[in-house]
Amino acid sequence: MGPRKWAFLLRTARIGWILAALTLAAAGTSTDVQGLARSLVEAGLWATVAWLTLDWILAAIRARRAGGGKAARDYLTSLPGLVAAVSALAIPFGLLLGYRSPELWMFGAVWVLTLMATARRLGRLGHVLNREAGSLGAVLALGLTMLFLSATGLYILEGDDQPDNFGSIPEALWWAMNTVTGVGIEAVPETVWGRIIASSVMVLGLGVFGLMAGILATGFASEVRREEFLGAWELVARVPFLKSLGPAAIADMAGTLRRLDVTENTIVVRRGQRGECMYFVAEGAVEVQLPSGPLTLPEGSFFGEMALLDGGAGIRSATVRCTRPAVLLVLDIADFRALIARHPALAKAVEEEATRRRSMEGDRQRDRTTIMPAEG
Ligand code: CMP
Repeated sequence: MGPRKWAFLLRTARIGWILAALTLAAAGTSTDVQGLARSLVEAGLWATVAWLTLDWILAAIRARRAGGGKAARDYLTSLPGLVAAVSALAIPFGLLLGYRSPELWMFGAVWVLTLMATARRLGRLGHVLNREAGSLGAVLALGLTMLFLSATGLYILEGDDQPDNFGSIPEALWWAMNTVTGVGIEAVPETVWGRIIASSVMVLGLGVFGLMAGILATGFASEVRREEFLGAWELVARVPFLKSLGPAAIADMAGTLRRLDVTENTIVVRRGQRGECMYFVAEGAVEVQLPSGPLTLPEGSFFGEMALLDGGAGIRSATVRCTRPAVLLVLDIADFRALIARHPALAKAVEEEATRRRSMEGDRQRDRTTIMPAEG
């Protein structure tokens, strides 16, 4: 099993344990849990306290080993470090305050922070909120203005008839808040103008929430696109051939290439089969099986281009196998055609490399046939 799979399994196990611990903490506060069930729940909870404490200390030790005292201090004062500290110390802190089981386990609620810290996408939410703060603030200001004006209107129009609900601006605001969020309270304005205001509050309330959801959704989508683009850019820049094409072509490529992770010994293309894409080796290496013998193409090279060129007739000229785990970037034939139309230099470079490869293979084969009789 590769390190990536291990990391995935560990992360999943960690999330599973935290979810189980939160359930146990909730069950632990209930006096209905008695006898053997209570012993099991408490054993699970104390095991969680021990694990969280160990996890925190080990993370600090690891940071110290990797970067000395400063790294350890940085970890302890970082957000993950603080979350780990709060999670580890919550129950001892409860004990210190004099709480005992079952109330003690309510402090386990802070373990939910560990779960939040495990959520990798949370950082992305932070970016989105940061970037969309202006638009979100404007929508929020609109919502608040609307709430305040409508509450004031309702106080003037309905205050005398329904003093319980609209007798003061705070009471009317409370009503408006309930109406906007759809929680709904029983009070209904009685005057015509009061009802008009109430209807506008509801419609505008929906609008404000819709706008906020829309801003956040587009923010998220563009954040994901940006991250994917940056990831692809980083990989594209590792391929010297692509790098030499200049920033415009790289940006163009980064948007069209698809990442493909392959394990050792995978046959990526097979001689004689139809080929509808070409590959760039961003990480690892591949071996081309040629009549003259195997030829290794290292990280940064490309293959599968011949089938896409006019002379290749869409058929793979050789079998290509990964000699170690590799990250390939796949360029589909449609994108390849569109790209070479936009960047003629790309077409020329690929054509020249294919010609060079064919002639090199010719030379290698000739060398073999001339050396062979001598060997014999
Ligand atoms: P394609 O024919 O699409 O599929 C097999 C690929 O192996 C081919 O494209 C080239 O990328 C690569 N290949 C074929 N012949 C050679 C060669 N002589 N030297 C290097 N690579 C080659």
